[in-house]
Amino acid sequence: MAGLGFALRTEDVKMTKLTSERADALFDAAMAASERSYSPYSHFRVGAAILCDDGVVVTGVNVENRSYGLTNCAERSAVFNAISMGKRNFLAIAIATPDSGYPVSPCGACRQVLSEFFASEAPVQYGNKRDNRTTTTVGELFPSDALHELAR
Ligand code: THU
Repeated sequence: MAGLGFALRTEDVKMTKLTSERADALFDAAMAASERSYSPYSHFRVGAAILCDDGVVVTGVNVENRSYGLTNCAERSAVFNAISMGKRNFLAIAIATPDSGYPVSPCGACRQVLSEFFASEAPVQYGNKRDNRTTTTVGELFPSDALHELAR
């Protein structure tokens, strides 16, 4: 968990989405987290970093298991870490996959989970290195989202 070194208000991100400086810092946090990946089966390290509305950055890594199907992706680990810390409002997420030759987008299960907590316009960046990133939004990755009214 690290701060980005500045106070961030929700309006900042709504107005400007994410400045490139903030986006870089968030991606760097995801890349640093990827070094803590537990991936002895795939040897594919993934790190994710979420910017919360209080300016705190919460990270997560993929956690594999010898019963392969129990693997938890980095994105979901980051969300579950943040929720467990009492965070509820998330502004942006970065995902780093240093072992791929190209940016790897979140899996279907993670897209569903991201849609639970992020606004549709929330920026998502993913990349295998700083100068090979794709930037999109939660809504682009998970369109036709529905049933938010079930949460009370
Ligand atoms: N993985 C993630 O953590 N996030 C992604 O977006 C893609 C896949 C993990 C799951 C597994 O541990 C490894 O990467 C290979 O699929």
